[in-house]
Amino acid sequence: MEEKLNQILTESLKEIANANDKTSLTEIKVKVLGKQGELTSILRGMRDVAPEDRPKFGALVNEAREKIESAILEKEEVFNKIELEKELAKSAVDITEPGINHEKGALHPTTRMFNKLIDICVAMGFKVVEGPEIETDYYNFEGLNIPKNHPSRDMQDTFFITENILLRSQTSSVQVRAMEKLAPPIKIISPGRVYRNDSDGTHSPVFHQLEGLVIDENVSMADLKAMLTSMMKKVFGEETTIRFRPSFFPFTEPSVEVDVSCPTCHGKGCKVCKGTGFLELLGAGVVNPKVLEMSGIDSKKYRGFAFGFGVDRFAMVYDGITDLRNMFKNDVRFLKQMK
Ligand code: PHE
Repeated sequence: MEEKLNQILTESLKEIANANDKTSLTEIKVKVLGKQGELTSILRGMRDVAPEDRPKFGALVNEAREKIESAILEKEEVFNKIELEKELAKSAVDITEPGINHEKGALHPTTRMFNKLIDICVAMGFKVVEGPEIETDYYNFEGLNIPKNHPSRDMQDTFFITENILLRSQTSSVQVRAMEKLAPPIKIISPGRVYRNDSDGTHSPVFHQLEGLVIDENVSMADLKAMLTSMMKKVFGEETTIRFRPSFFPFTEPSVEVDVSCPTCHGKGCKVCKGTGFLELLGAGVVNPKVLEMSGIDSKKYRGFAFGFGVDRFAMVYDGITDLRNMFKNDVRFLKQMK
């Protein structure tokens, strides 16, 4: 009996070693370990073994079974591995190849400045209002007290599509639309893209503005000054001071141009401010009563003030950018530096 057992063991181990695929392994399993299998029938022959030898023989049979089972498992592993490798080769994905590097973008300095200004204004209670870039002559000029053929149109020559339709030269156009629609008190900002027939080292035919308008019963130049001072401090830092110079805009009276102390040298004078200590950054003024009346607002009861920023210029001053062309070139290397 023991001899027979050894023979089964050696033979099945040999067969397992020689098996070429999983099917032959299964066949061997059935033939040796199955219900009618060789090892099973040996167990059945146990009654021919002397009772005192039975435990020892039983242990031998179990040992043989374990050896065969683990040999089968081991061989199965080998076949699994081969199969997996075949699958991987078929799908031809090289998992060791370095991945595609997705470049991370960066917000444009103008966008960042827009976000900053809008956040500051919204925190001060302004509502954001937007309007069309292709505008009628009325909303861009006439409604702002700039009649046809008036010399003040020269300040803002733009691109005409027809005699009455043009690319807006200022986002003040949105304010006229808002005054027609909303009842005072009004407190709005209008951010957006504007166009002018202007192109040189310091002027681009397309640029960005953010204009503000406040209309209420008791507003004055003093409110305008306080509000702009506080805004500029929030944008450029607490030490910032502002300076008003008399100016002219057809839609405000009185009008001012506002200078902001240079954030680079804090008013001492440097390259950025051309030694003056100040930068000319915005236009503002008390809304001309004529403009209020044209939009149907009672100028005896209400007064307003307005201001306008060139957002690109703000961004350039803030980020220390000296060449305006960089702002519109969309050079990724420039944007990356600005991160
Ligand atoms: N709209 C003016 C410009 O583009 C700026 C401005 C706005 C001036 C509001 C006064 C009041 O030049």
